[in-house]
Amino acid sequence: MTFAPLTAAALLSDLDARLVGQSITCLPECDSTNDRARAAAEAGAPDGAVILAEVQTSGRGRRGRVWLAPPGACLLMSTILRPQLPAADAHLLTMLAACATAAAVESVADLACPLKWPNDLVVGERKVGGILVETSFLGDALEYAVVGIGLNVNLDVGLYPEIAETATSLARELGTEVDRIAVARELLRQLDRRYARLGRGLGEEVYREWRRRLGTLGRQVVVVDHRGEAEAVLAEDVAPDGALIARRADGSRRMLRLGEVSLSQPISTSTRTCPSRNRPSAGPGGW
Ligand code: BTN
Repeated sequence: MTFAPLTAAALLSDLDARLVGQSITCLPECDSTNDRARAAAEAGAPDGAVILAEVQTSGRGRRGRVWLAPPGACLLMSTILRPQLPAADAHLLTMLAACATAAAVESVADLACPLKWPNDLVVGERKVGGILVETSFLGDALEYAVVGIGLNVNLDVGLYPEIAETATSLARELGTEVDRIAVARELLRQLDRRYARLGRGLGEEVYREWRRRLGTLGRQVVVVDHRGEAEAVLAEDVAPDGALIARRADGSRRMLRLGEVSLSQPISTSTRTCPSRNRPSAGPGGW
């Protein structure tokens, strides 16, 4: 596949972001943009510096998983953030990144992009992206965070039979190639807006938006906790610290801070954000 490479010049043209993207590095290849960003942060890179790569040789996801993406097909991006936040509020950065990515997808691709707890991005019941935030603390305060975002823009999911049922890409949903530069620029803008709000002490707004975007709530789900144990529950709500509040079959309540869910019912029946252009979802997906 040929692709238009991401360049700092292309991303910066017309970018109305104040802080996020003030320094942009586009690499043809690296181990993991999160690793590069961490090294850059340790070397003093500024708040809002962004590193993107066309391909990663050791891309990683949550819970130690491998994050695969062929060259030029996806957005593989890590942003260094240095907010003045207590360590206990670091989860707000994951919420912020998930919301910004969903908003960018909706804006550029016109696709509904609900979140699946805790921070998967989903289109038509299949995973289209994910967030991996890694942090460094100084005592009780956050020193910096590396906000890693992986988004399947033009991924040909058919090349990976093992994920064809559970993953998708914007191109697959739209039936046409998507401009990665437009998606990346919009993502920087959406991150910047929310980061500015966080800087004004509006963390509560970040939580509320994340809660509103979660397609998981009110649904019967199977939760798998950090020990790998599964339980069918009703996903009732989320707490401000990001914990899932679940109702068990026996009526008791369970709080989950780590783990993930799979849905036993679809999140929605349409993938488009614009009702006049609704079309049915691509079909049942098991996440
Ligand atoms: C997940 O498991 O859902 C999170 C996936 C995060 C992948 C991105 S790609 C850019 C950045 N670099 C990495 O190695 N991981 C994150």
